[in-house]
Amino acid sequence: MHHPKFNDFPADFLWGAASAAYQVEGAWNEDGKGPSVWDLFTKLPGKTFEGSNGDVAVDHYHRVEEDVALMAEMGLKAYRFSVSWPRIYPNGRGEVNEAGLAFYERLIDALLAHGIEPVLTLYHWDLPQALQDEYGGWEDRRIIDDFEHYCVTLYQRFASKVKYWVSLNEQNYNLTNAYQLGTHPPAVQDRKRFFAANHIAFLANARVIKAFRQHVPNGLIGPSFAYSPAYPASCAPSDMLAFENAEEFTNLWWLDAYCFGRYPQAALAYLRETGEAPEILPGDLELLREGTPDYIGVNYYYTLTFTDNPLGGQTMQRINTTGQKGTTPSSGVPGLYKTTPNPHLETSNWDWAIDPTGMRIALRRLSSRYGLPLMITENGLGEFDKLTADGRVQDDYRIAYLQSHLKACQEAMQDGVALIGYCAWSFTDILSWLNGYQKRYGFVYVERDEQGGSLRRIKKESFHWYSQVIASGGKTL
Ligand code: BG6
Repeated sequence: MHHPKFNDFPADFLWGAASAAYQVEGAWNEDGKGPSVWDLFTKLPGKTFEGSNGDVAVDHYHRVEEDVALMAEMGLKAYRFSVSWPRIYPNGRGEVNEAGLAFYERLIDALLAHGIEPVLTLYHWDLPQALQDEYGGWEDRRIIDDFEHYCVTLYQRFASKVKYWVSLNEQNYNLTNAYQLGTHPPAVQDRKRFFAANHIAFLANARVIKAFRQHVPNGLIGPSFAYSPAYPASCAPSDMLAFENAEEFTNLWWLDAYCFGRYPQAALAYLRETGEAPEILPGDLELLREGTPDYIGVNYYYTLTFTDNPLGGQTMQRINTTGQKGTTPSSGVPGLYKTTPNPHLETSNWDWAIDPTGMRIALRRLSSRYGLPLMITENGLGEFDKLTADGRVQDDYRIAYLQSHLKACQEAMQDGVALIGYCAWSFTDILSWLNGYQKRYGFVYVERDEQGGSLRRIKKESFHWYSQVIASGGKTL
């Protein structure tokens, strides 16, 4: 469908940018913060690119005012950030750490003072280590109460200041890495444990959404889902079936649980056969239905293309974390599906397919299946950037990426999608969990590498470009 002309973006469209606590804050053990699972995991040998960690990150904790001033200069309308649970509850629960709350209050107040809408993520992977040690974190139902208690603390403190909330960030990506690939803490490779922990995370998600209604009646909350829409490699029925399998197992498994309070049928039937299905106790599905989201947060980076995978075929493989193009192997589940490169798409140096049309497809699939408003909570391009001798970063490739994806948003809105806003990933450069500091996403360059650096902020070319797009309400796209 080709639209003859683009409609304008709505006047209240949230032109945003995003970050996450562990990736920007640093100050990992300051002002009463407890350790998170990432504080320990990144220090185990061989887990991250060149052993990089977030001890200092880009030092946002100490540079909040400077960073918010840059957001204001850019004209940003929304800033998505996450709260570090162990900053608020160093032991996961018990005594609250007032200094942690005060830090986020300072950030929120600074944003509001500049007319920037805060979008608060409750959980972006930095689980308190104490809860991992005590009962295995997401593998134990006790986490549901502890997570709710932590979230209610934030609701009570910030209900009058924060309207947009994100419950869990990329539960699908995080737990797949944590319990299938073994690449995020606690680095387990066990599908049964994966589906069990993932089920408990759904319950926690629903519980905090339920509590939200009571404490933040005028706010909006939803999870952020890492949505990589599936494509079939060809119109061969076996590829179409692989695509159906992949869409159910890698996407609808989460989306249907969040929005419909049930698991997709074929996937559940398969897992019951293999003995890997999660244990669903009486009341679980009722809870899921009582805690459905107001909107879906969409983290979109790429589409994935699938082909048939026989029994005994390709298994799950870890991703390219070096930026050496072409090093991502095919990955899949024997008997169900496996990935294959899409010959129609260019890729980044980390082998992520660049596919703006895929974003339009993503938004349309979600909107028509669930009938909910959507917010792009992440979209961006991780690349090697170069700081030139005269202090500039000419990231025209990033501008091209963002521009084409924003146009896809515009088209999706014309297709009838209710899109609240767009948060580019990321505002400043960040620590990419497994890929170190060399995989950069920001509008603002931060002078540091795996070893460290001056932490000076430098506006990239894309900073000025996005600033103009926002000022024109999208007309200069
Ligand atoms: C998402 C995460 O997976 O994508 C972010 O929510 C992350 O935290 C982003 O940084 C990009 O992924 P990566 O692996 O390139 O850092």
